[in-house]
Amino acid sequence: MLKRKLRHCKVNYISLFLFIALTALTLTLFKNHSKTLLFSNRNLELKEDNQDHVNCTKIIKGDIEEIENAKLKLLEVDYKKRHSWLTEQDYINMTKDCYLFTRNRKYILNPLSREENEFPIAYSIVVHHKIDMLERLLRSIYAPQNHYCIHVDQKSSESFLSAVKAIASCFENVFIASELENVVYASWTRVQADLNCMKDLYQANRRWKYLINLCGMDFPIKTNREIVQVLKALKGENSLETEKMPAHKETRWRKHYDVSSGGIQKTNIDKEPPPIQISVFSGSAYFVVSRAFVGHVLKDGNARTFLEWSKDTYSPDEFLWATLQRIPQVPGSVPANSKFDVSDMNSIARFVKWEYWEGDVTKGAPYPPCSGTHIRSVCVFGAGDLHFMLKQHHLFANKFDVNVDPIAIQCLEEHLRYKALYPETLT
Ligand SMILES: *[C@@H]1O[C@H](CO)[C@@H](O)[C@H](O)[C@H]1NC(C)=O
Ligand SMILES: *[C@@H]1O[C@H](CO)[C@@H](O)[C@H](O)[C@H]1NC(C)=O
Repeated sequence: MLKRKLRHCKVNYISLFLFIALTALTLTLFKNHSKTLLFSNRNLELKEDNQDHVNCTKIIKGDIEEIENAKLKLLEVDYKKRHSWLTEQDYINMTKDCYLFTRNRKYILNPLSREENEFPIAYSIVVHHKIDMLERLLRSIYAPQNHYCIHVDQKSSESFLSAVKAIASCFENVFIASELENVVYASWTRVQADLNCMKDLYQANRRWKYLINLCGMDFPIKTNREIVQVLKALKGENSLETEKMPAHKETRWRKHYDVSSGGIQKTNIDKEPPPIQISVFSGSAYFVVSRAFVGHVLKDGNARTFLEWSKDTYSPDEFLWATLQRIPQVPGSVPANSKFDVSDMNSIARFVKWEYWEGDVTKGAPYPPCSGTHIRSVCVFGAGDLHFMLKQHHLFANKFDVNVDPIAIQCLEEHLRYKALYPETLT
């Protein structure tokens, strides 16, 4: 009797113990899970302990006093001393332990939403130097479901290439183009660099929906989630600048140009007319194109013939994509009629400030004056450019340079990261 009772008790004790243990385990797991979520988001914020005491919130809001304050900081004698950029050797060193690298550099390693996960984007990035800019660009557009091809110029230093390889080795979805060009300014090689990445990306993965090409001086002005939403709204159409060709640019493709490793030379030899039914359109090197567009450019016979014909022209990147975008058989194109012209401001590909268009917006200028400096008439942005820029519909802006205004880049990346982590807090 006693023995039976004891046995009974034992069974009860065991179930009771099991019950308590399981409950405790569940509770700790749950608590830890929510803690990690909160903890990891906080950990992924890019708020640097800002020695400059520049308030990025104010800068983004266009606070004139704070923008002046930021400008003064840049002029301080010891500014460069206090801010040393990460070098190629630093990256080679930091990427020896990929776990630590992605954690310390605060990469987002999980898709932030289901919508983003189901809409992968491919990127072709053409660079030749400034590893720190490249890595910050990559970090700001990185998402595990996207695909990144980096074309490193043949002219780049050995250590730059090694550093890019080292960074790429830490991600399954980042790779270096299988063929590298010696990119000569304004020549076909610039297009070939993008084509090499297009081919690699097209073969590497079938899921991505859109391709965006970038250079080392671009920076996003939208989060990945916003980019996905904008791309979805295109419904398969491409978005790039494509306008009537100004008469003075026609010589660029009417004459044959010679390309050597040193540069590009005009000759007096007339070229055959372009092998297309429509006129040649003017645009820029940068595009937002559908996967179907990429497939067409890589495989279609007529497209290949047009590409081939463009090889000895001046700056084919600035008419090739613009013209393909008007050919009726090209997926995602718009009609060649001038009513379908798309200006750089109407396309979403790139926000650029041209010096000769800058002015008083209230008097009809497309954008206010550059707050940084100009290179070949293009604004290299300063912190004061962010406020206006962030209200535009473009996905990316060009040009940024840490040597011109590092505060602009820092404020932009902090802002975008915060918006990506807490999309409900900012609109
Ligand atoms: C920056 O400015 C915002 C609003 O202008 C303010 O709410 C915030 O406290 C400031 N941040 C710091 C660190 O001073
Ligand atoms: C590489 O990293 C290690 C450990 O973080 C450090 O001690 C070393 O000085 C670094 N070397 C270079 C060349 O940066």
